[in-house]
Amino acid sequence: MTKIAFTLNGRPAEAGAAGLERLATVLRRDLGCHDVKIGCDAGDCGACTVLLGGAPVCACITPATLAEGQAVETLTGLHATDPLVAQLTKAFERHGAAQCGICTPGMLVSAAALLRANPAPDEPQVRDALGGVLCRCTGYRKIIDAVIDWRGAEAPQDGRVGGAVARVDGARKVEGREVFGDDAPPADALVLRVIRSPHHLARFGFGDLDAYAKAEGLDLILTAADVPGLNAFGVIPAFVDQPVYAEGTARFRGEAVAAVIGPAARMTALDLSAFPVSWHPEPEALTPEAARAAGQMHEGRAENVMCRGFVKKGEAEEAIASAFVTAEGSFQTGFIEHAYIEPEAGFARWENGRVEIIGGTQAPQMNRDSLALILNLPQEAIRILPTAVGGGFGSKLDLSWQPHVALAAMRLKRPVRVVYSRSDSMSSTTKRHPAQMRVRAGATKEGRLSGFAFDGAFNTGAYASWGPTVANRVPVHASGPYAHADYVARTEAVHTNCVPAGAFRGFGVPQAAIAQECVFDDLCLALGMDRLEFRLLNALDNGIPTATGQVFDGAVGIKPCLEALKPAWEEAVKAAEAFNAQGGTLRKGVGVACGWYGCGNTSLPNPSTIRAGITGDGRIVLHQGAMDIGQGANTVIAQIFAEALGVPLEKVELIGPDTDVTPDAGKTSASRQTFVSGNAARLTGLALRAEVLRLTNCADGVIGFEGGLTVTAPDGIRHHVPLAEGMDYAIEAAETYDPPTLPLDKNGQGVPYAVYGYTAQMAELTVDTTLGTVVLTRIHAAHDVGRAINPMLVEGQIHGGVAQGIGLALMEEYIPGRTDNLHDYLIPTIGDVPPITSLIVEVTDPHGPYGAKGLGEHVLIPTAPAILSAIRHATGARITRVPATPDRVLAAIRAAKEA
Ligand code: FES
Ligand code: FES
Repeated sequence: MTKIAFTLNGRPAEAGAAGLERLATVLRRDLGCHDVKIGCDAGDCGACTVLLGGAPVCACITPATLAEGQAVETLTGLHATDPLVAQLTKAFERHGAAQCGICTPGMLVSAAALLRANPAPDEPQVRDALGGVLCRCTGYRKIIDAVIDWRGAEAPQDGRVGGAVARVDGARKVEGREVFGDDAPPADALVLRVIRSPHHLARFGFGDLDAYAKAEGLDLILTAADVPGLNAFGVIPAFVDQPVYAEGTARFRGEAVAAVIGPAARMTALDLSAFPVSWHPEPEALTPEAARAAGQMHEGRAENVMCRGFVKKGEAEEAIASAFVTAEGSFQTGFIEHAYIEPEAGFARWENGRVEIIGGTQAPQMNRDSLALILNLPQEAIRILPTAVGGGFGSKLDLSWQPHVALAAMRLKRPVRVVYSRSDSMSSTTKRHPAQMRVRAGATKEGRLSGFAFDGAFNTGAYASWGPTVANRVPVHASGPYAHADYVARTEAVHTNCVPAGAFRGFGVPQAAIAQECVFDDLCLALGMDRLEFRLLNALDNGIPTATGQVFDGAVGIKPCLEALKPAWEEAVKAAEAFNAQGGTLRKGVGVACGWYGCGNTSLPNPSTIRAGITGDGRIVLHQGAMDIGQGANTVIAQIFAEALGVPLEKVELIGPDTDVTPDAGKTSASRQTFVSGNAARLTGLALRAEVLRLTNCADGVIGFEGGLTVTAPDGIRHHVPLAEGMDYAIEAAETYDPPTLPLDKNGQGVPYAVYGYTAQMAELTVDTTLGTVVLTRIHAAHDVGRAINPMLVEGQIHGGVAQGIGLALMEEYIPGRTDNLHDYLIPTIGDVPPITSLIVEVTDPHGPYGAKGLGEHVLIPTAPAILSAIRHATGARITRVPATPDRVLAAIRAAKEA
């Protein structure tokens, strides 16, 4: 152990470092610097950036001994001591530059180094300085704006519905005080590591586990034999099929077979390659075709088909056969990794006969209910206390780390912590489904759609996760937001020996949109019709039945989205064509695509409950159980509640998700929280307001806070609200909202969602036809959000979704066993996201709180197809497999020339 002495945030510090031990480890473990985040531990993500001698370094790949005699600065220190950084953090809040906040310390530290040297940087300089820090949430644009505008004036905050107020939990994110999963455990917690299968499919057996535990000084080894309840979990009751620990056969590479638990120091040094397990690999099936012919993986799922989805309206085949023009194509997408910067982490403790699980999740109540079955405990014996979540995007809906630490804490009666390595996270948690899709469509001479047929096989991996949701949601959405008289969509979710595919922003809809929009471009080419005009002509509208026969009478917003793009479209198409007419190897292109998305569960109950109370001394407390994973639920739901109650936002105190004290607001997924939990918050606010007015005998009035809670009636008389002391709340209300839906019949006809959101996006880009590289110039994103409860957060969602759409289109493909890290798996960096023009369209929905619709998934659905459309416009290359990497673009250019 080498003793090192240095200055930490202006104060003398000492620590010991073993060998090449990393600076990040020493700072977090020994010096309590939890503002130094670990996203990859490999120098790929920049979350751990600190200043060493004034220069930014990745603390995870910097030996701690290099700090000897140096000044080390982290975000909390910089914020406390450097006025420049204090101003910069304000700018981050003002611009909404932090969403989940896990990358924010790395961003701010890097920006601080830049601004100290150059207080007036331009965008390229900001991009250069922040280029080593990855963000999966924001799309970087607001970060760039905040750094450039770091000295800008503070804007007055407007917390009403429609006000672009800064997020209510923003300060702790930008000041490095936010607590994520690995920041929460007590220092004396035991450490757990998971033993995983190195094979796609293998039988296995254990050696002498007791002897290994004794030799290595472990406290416990867990296997399937140690699960007291159901050794299975899942998210859909009829499809609970994934073992906590595999029993005898591991069905995907990365599957958990055991866990080892011991003291922290011991576990760091433990060599897991000596763990007594023998593997007997078997031939794996990694694609749906191979899996259909392989051995059956789950009972009752013949040919490994987990489930099918189907929607039929009219006679698609006949309509296509009689169409004036037809087009068809086959398309392929790969696994996409969520790549949140915070790997799964948390801890469990045994408290008074109950298990408490503290860490990141998107679905506290669902986690509790599944854990009760696994632990064989009543639900009341389990408490889920979520920390902040450093990005989720769907994958943190499923259980992952929780059963392991819960089982260990229950057995040992001691706190047990776990943090997944980046490779643990990527190899074992859910992915976006790879899709193989075939689309056929026809159109009349005038360009009206005449028949549409979609067939899709989705690789759902070894276990179900959200596969059934994907199989059922895609047929409903594969139409896109268009009017189809004759339509059929068939899907299958097929088990393979791959990591389970689950929920990822869109549940299969982004994949389907790639195929559908490309075939629509085919029809436009065949007809010689402008691509945007074709979409306008065929856009769904009020009074026109959707593919499932649902008719809306006033909230269909796709045409306004397309109209919003039209001026930029006409200008950009003209400019690209003028540029291309000059010849040369660089070609410009413009593309357009649409998307829609039903908010909430498909034809299933989907309730949220929100509770609030007023204390005896007039404080207003909102129990807000909708997980804020960076999208802004804490702020938006509080804004809606405050508006309904009639009080300023700053008067609302939040109690966040905690299964003991916060009612079930459902999971954070399916673009449901603003719509569903927002409605519950509105009803709760209205109920509380009614009670306040009743207590003062006022029919209406303005709630005030001078000298206690008051109501000033329309006649100007102020009434004191009599509030009883001595209870938790003098007045309280809890209201539930469940969207009205109807089941789908055997042809998929019915009312799957009460509300859809709509979007149209346009991409401008340049293709280097000699290299196959694509440089994006601008994305224009028009979104009908019903009512923008908080326009700044809406824009933040759009930017983040567009960035993920760029990744889907151009660079991301997870290959099991080959890309389990962030240097082989590429996500967009700050240099990959061009300026984004956000066009917020507000076609209010009668079901939405103040007219609001959901937005979370809509934002990336049209991005990839719009980019592919633009590549084709630029070069003629018809891309049928994403990502459109340079080799695929070049091949498609060649194919287009030969055609
Ligand atoms: S944690 Fe250091 S670069 Fe990712
Ligand atoms: S805000 Fe950047 S990763 Fe979430």
